[in-house]
Amino acid sequence: MALDRPLVFFGPPAAGKGTQAKRIAELYSVPHLSTGDMLRDAIARGTEVGRAVKPILESGALVPDDIVMAMVEERLSRPDCSEGCVFDGFPRTVPQAQALDAILCRIGKQKPLVLELRVPRDTLIRRIAGRRTCSLGGEVYNVYDAPPRVDEICDRDGGKLVQRPDDRPDVFEQRLRAYERQTLPLEAFYRREGVLETVDGSVPMEDVTRALVSIVMRVQGRDGHL
Ligand code: AP5
Repeated sequence: MALDRPLVFFGPPAAGKGTQAKRIAELYSVPHLSTGDMLRDAIARGTEVGRAVKPILESGALVPDDIVMAMVEERLSRPDCSEGCVFDGFPRTVPQAQALDAILCRIGKQKPLVLELRVPRDTLIRRIAGRRTCSLGGEVYNVYDAPPRVDEICDRDGGKLVQRPDDRPDVFEQRLRAYERQTLPLEAFYRREGVLETVDGSVPMEDVTRALVSIVMRVQGRDGHL
């Protein structure tokens, strides 16, 4: 089953966008495109972009739109995106959303289906405190809700589990503020476009996945070809 338009995962930091975007991308056999992962990869490789964005990520602010759009446009031009893709953490500003619409229009694709995860603030704070990430492969765990089989060790590749530097409480506060100021206006933007669907992201992961799949299937039924 292919997607003829991108899916966009939208929601505050720690809402579960990455967790769900990976599952849905796997289900539809399309690439999972996380701008956060792309930026962290650029930092790890020490590229020019990586050096420019490192202090921005460390502060919890958003990276400028032109840097993000150049990265996304290059990634979207690769052949593996021809059957669709799942965006995670992108778009994050109205100008990014408008730029994505323009790219999709140019390459003859439909507007994205936007899947919003709603999670209360206290749950976000608990999730961020419990999140651990594999230092080798990036696999994500949670010491409360999705722990590894062996403490601090990745089940998949044996890598050491670490806390992301921007998960520190003070930086997380900044990320929440950036979300409220710069990203939340996208909700109204996408609602006006008629492409926004909202899901309760506070329930167990499997239930969130089930709700998302049923939305994608409903939209598919409505349009006949999603
Ligand atoms: P990014 O990496 O995108 O971070 P984020 O949006 O803040 O999202 P997170 O990765 O923190 O959370 P998530 O929603 O993916 O949750 P997860 O599934 O891990 O961005 C990082 C930085 O890069 C930004 O601050 C910015 O500087 C920059 N950036 C990135 N994109 C940009 C853009 N487009 N424009 C400008 N700047 C950009 O889940 C969290 C935890 O909860 C995990 O431990 C997980 O196991 C657990 N969990 C998930 N779901 C559930 C559930 N249902 N029940 C219980 N636990 C759960």
